[in-house]
Amino acid sequence: MSTKKLIVALDFSNSEEVSQIINFLNPEKCILKVGLQLYLAEGKSILDLLTNKGFEIFLDLKLHDIPNTVNKAVEEIAQFNILMTTIHLQGGAEMIEAAKSAAGNTKILGVSLLTSLDENDTSELYGNSFDDQFMKLITLAKSSSVDGIVCSPKELISLHDLNKIKVVPGIRNTQTNDDQKRTMTSQEAYAQGADYIVVGRPITQANNIEAAIEEYLV
Ligand code: C5P
Repeated sequence: MSTKKLIVALDFSNSEEVSQIINFLNPEKCILKVGLQLYLAEGKSILDLLTNKGFEIFLDLKLHDIPNTVNKAVEEIAQFNILMTTIHLQGGAEMIEAAKSAAGNTKILGVSLLTSLDENDTSELYGNSFDDQFMKLITLAKSSSVDGIVCSPKELISLHDLNKIKVVPGIRNTQTNDDQKRTMTSQEAYAQGADYIVVGRPITQANNIEAAIEEYLV
């Protein structure tokens, strides 16, 4: 596993904005997350740009499809020199193994329940409480060969016996009025077992990006 623990989310729509930001970032200190927006806007060229600058990449596309389709998609991702990539655990055991079998050196992370879902949603969708549905997916992750999971900081407490990589967004070291609600500080998240934390706007929109990075390192 990488010794770096900070993942900076590049939630931008073009490579010009990315190029400006990465001038302030150090590949020795952080990994970069490319999500759907940036990947759809720039395609493979953005991955090449970041790799050429020496960064490791977390490609967060949250794949969820039939096993054969996911297997073929991960086969493509595995050629891009990607450290970690995401699938939905809800795709089931066969889909998870199909992803793993094509992954090569790329780590496969399973997204549990999206934090945008609440108690009403899980009751309507699965006839289950949020916590029970979450633990069902964690049991699936445990019995599969998936390398790790993505979860909210609030869920770390129930995952102490999960011996897999834990990647945690929703981190705030100072209170903000944005859309992140169930937040935790970086030090609390590391202390509760996060292997990696994902931080976007508190770093990418900071007046002093280099100083902001220091606040989120272990
Ligand atoms: O700017 P901010 O720190 O909120 O960015 C967090 C990143 O983590 C974003 O790219 C967001 O899409 C992602 N994320 C999240 N909550 C989740 C899963 C992913 O905020 N439950």
